[in-house]
Amino acid sequence: MSENTRNLMNSPATIAPAKGKLGVLLVGLGAVSTTFIAGVEAIKRGLAQPIGSLTQLASIRLGKRTENRNPRINEFVPLADLDDLVFGAWDIFSDSAYDAAVHAGVLERDLLEQLKPALSKIKPMPAAFDQKYVKRLSGTNVKQGANKFELAEQIIADIEAFKKKNKCSRLVMVWCASTEIFLKETAQHKTIKSLEAAMKANHPSIAPSMLYAYAAIKCGVPFANGAPNLTVDIPAIRELAIQHNVPICGKDFKTGQTFLKTLIAPGLKSRMLGLDGWYSTNILGNRDGEVLDDPESFKTKEESKLSALEYILQPELYPTLYKDFSHVVRINYYPPRGDNKEGWDNIDIRGWLGYPMQIKVNFLCRDSILAAPLVLDLALFLDLAQRTGMRGIQEWLSFYFKAPMTAPQLYPEHDIFIQLMKLKNTLRHLKGEDLITHLGLEYYD
Ligand SMILES: NC(=O)c1ccc[n+]([C@@H]2O[C@H](COP(=O)([O-])OP(=O)(O)OC[C@H]3O[C@@H](n4cnc5c(N)ncnc54)[C@H](O)[C@@H]3O)[C@@H](O)[C@H]2O)c1
Repeated sequence: MSENTRNLMNSPATIAPAKGKLGVLLVGLGAVSTTFIAGVEAIKRGLAQPIGSLTQLASIRLGKRTENRNPRINEFVPLADLDDLVFGAWDIFSDSAYDAAVHAGVLERDLLEQLKPALSKIKPMPAAFDQKYVKRLSGTNVKQGANKFELAEQIIADIEAFKKKNKCSRLVMVWCASTEIFLKETAQHKTIKSLEAAMKANHPSIAPSMLYAYAAIKCGVPFANGAPNLTVDIPAIRELAIQHNVPICGKDFKTGQTFLKTLIAPGLKSRMLGLDGWYSTNILGNRDGEVLDDPESFKTKEESKLSALEYILQPELYPTLYKDFSHVVRINYYPPRGDNKEGWDNIDIRGWLGYPMQIKVNFLCRDSILAAPLVLDLALFLDLAQRTGMRGIQEWLSFYFKAPMTAPQLYPEHDIFIQLMKLKNTLRHLKGEDLITHLGLEYYD
C-alpha cells in the first residue's frame, strides 16, 4: 500500500445508537417550521416524498469506483428514524402548528386537513421575545422575567419539561424564528462570565436568540441557527458549547438565490471567466418578507447574502477576473406572492479577451419548500454529531448555510460542491472509510 493510500485510512468513530425518541425543538412556529413538521408527518404517512433531503434520499460512494458500493446515507450512518421524531416549538403567537401552517399558506389545505390531528397538538410555548430586535412583530405569547438571565432559565425549564413529557432520549434545537436586527460582536459576548453578567444586566447586546442558544447548550442540546442573527456565532457561546460537549452550526439556511449563486459562481471560476457585477433582487410576501422590510433586520440578511461571492471568487488570488466586481442584493416585500418568492439575477461576466456577456436567472421558488428539508437534515445530522462526541462548530454542515460558521482563524467555505464533499468525507471518516479525493490513486500503487 502506498503512503498516499495509507494517509487516507482511518479507524471508525464510536457512534452511540439512535435509540428512543428525538425531540426537535423549533424556535419560531412560522412558515419554515410548519412546512417542516407537516412534511415529516406527510412523509411518515406515505402521502409525500422527502424531496430535497440528503439524509432521506442521497447515497454515498464508498471505496474505489470499481467496488460499486453506494449505500443511502441513512443506511451508512445511524440516523434517527422519522417515526422517532417529536416536535416542540416556541412562538410569540399562540396558534397551533395547524393554524400557523394555514396562516403561512405554503401547503395545500387538502394535505393540511389530513394532518390536522397531529399538527393541532403542537402548541407553541411562550417565547423569549423583545420587539427591539424584530421591529415589525408583536405578539402576546411571550415570557415575562426580571431580566434576560431569568428568561433563559425559563427556556431551560421548558426544555426539561418537554423532554420529560415526551419521553425523549435526545433533543436538538433549530432557530427558525424571525431575523433579528443586525448586531456586532461586543465585549459582552467574549466569555461565558461576561455573557451571563450582560444577561443579568439586560444589556442590549443580548438578543433573544442568544437566550435560546444559551439554554439549549446548558441542557446539552445541539443548536442550529437557520437565520443570519449573531446568536451562537460569539466566543462565549462557542466556549459554552465546547464546555458542554454540544455541537452547534449556522448561519442562515442556504435556499433560494444564494443557493443558486453558490452553484453558478464556482462554475464561472472553474473556467476562469471574469465577473463585472451581480445584481440580485427578490419579491417576497410572507411574514419573513415583512420582517425583512425593516432596514435593521434586512441589514443582518444582507451581510449574510453578500459574503458568499467574495469567498468563492477569491479576488485577491484572481484580481484580473474579480477585482472590484459590484454585488447588489435587494429584497422587496410584496404581499400578493406570499411564500412564493421570485428572484431575478443579472450577472455581467467577461470571457476571452475581455468580451462581455450576460446571464439572466429568474427563479420562481417556494421559500419554505426549499428550507424544510434543510431543517430535517440539520436536526438528524446534529443528533448524529452529538452521539459521535463531536462538539463546537460543525463546519461539515456548512453545506446548509449562507454564512457558514467557522473557527475564528479560518475562512468559511461557500462553494457548494466543496461543502458537499466535506460533508460526505466527514461521514466516511466517522465510519473509517477511505476519504474520496478523486485522485485515482491506483495509478500510483
Ligand atoms: N424560508 C427560507 O428559505 C429561509 C432561508 C434562510 C433563512 N430563513 C430564515 O428562517 C427564519 C424563519 O423563516 P419563516 O419564513 O418561517 O418566517 P416566519 O415569519 O413565517 O416565522 C418566524 C416565526 O418566528 C416567530 N418569532 C419571532 N421571534 C421569535 C422569538 N424570539 N421566539 C420565538 N418565536 C419567534 C414569529 O412569530 C414567526 O411565527 C427567518 O429568520 C428567515 O429569514 C428562511
